[in-house]
Amino acid sequence: MELDFRWEFVIVFVMYFYGVSSQSQCHLNISAPYVSHSPLVPCEFLPMDFLECSDPIDLRGNDTAREELKYGCSRWGGNRYEEVQMSAVNCTVLPNIECYGNRTFQKEGFPCIKYTGHYFTTTFLYSLLLGFLGMDRFCLGHTGTAVGKLLTVGGVGIWWVVDIILLATGNLMPEDGSNWMPYV
Ligand SMILES: *[C@@H]1O[C@H](CO)[C@@H](O)[C@H](O)[C@H]1NC(C)=O
Ligand SMILES: *[C@@H]1O[C@H](CO)[C@@H](O)[C@H](O)[C@H]1NC(C)=O
Ligand SMILES: *[C@@H]1O[C@H](CO)[C@@H](O)[C@H](O)[C@H]1NC(C)=O
Ligand SMILES: *[C@@H]1O[C@H](CO)[C@@H](O)[C@H](O)[C@H]1NC(C)=O
Repeated sequence: MELDFRWEFVIVFVMYFYGVSSQSQCHLNISAPYVSHSPLVPCEFLPMDFLECSDPIDLRGNDTAREELKYGCSRWGGNRYEEVQMSAVNCTVLPNIECYGNRTFQKEGFPCIKYTGHYFTTTFLYSLLLGFLGMDRFCLGHTGTAVGKLLTVGGVGIWWVVDIILLATGNLMPEDGSNWMPYV
């Protein structure tokens, strides 16, 4: 059975106007109390795609400050998941995204990890080839020990070898607490 051609038009028009009129109800009064069947999601429930979050606050070496504030990073990086500290950060909802409540809030669970451009492969090659000059430690920012290594010509060769092992086992890391750059 075929539907009459003009009836299809009528149906499309009715659906169109129904859509337009129901859309106007989507703009709710945000200062009104939250009702669970409202189309607006509470801002804190928005996924990360709609948020702009700050970096965790740097509290290196100050565990008391971290305990007082209940956020921030007193230690950066780590080789294993359990070693990595977590911190809350400030997140702001992107403009033009509608949501219910405060648009700026604290969000938990951000890892205390940063990257400042240190590559493991490069550093390891420096350590292997120029370790007797302390080049590896200079690159990582351990300037004090690097000078010592340079003046002793890599601890007469012993320190040279020890640092290669330390690097390979993850016990010699960038001085600023950053992680190795990934995917190299
Ligand atoms: C929004 O809701 C508040 C509290 O219910 C009310 O005082 C205010 O007039 C409303 N604003 C608009 C634009 O409807
Ligand atoms: C650690 O943080 C506390 C409080 O923020 C501050 O008073 C103290 O000076 C800090 N200590 C160091 C060593 O930075
Ligand atoms: C959030 O921002 C406030 C005000 O700028 C600041 O005092 C606070 O330390 C920030 N909190 C976090 C977790 O970054
Ligand atoms: C929104 O943020 C302000 C300032 O941080 C705070 O005073 C207020 O209580 C917050 N409102 C809600 C509903 O969390």
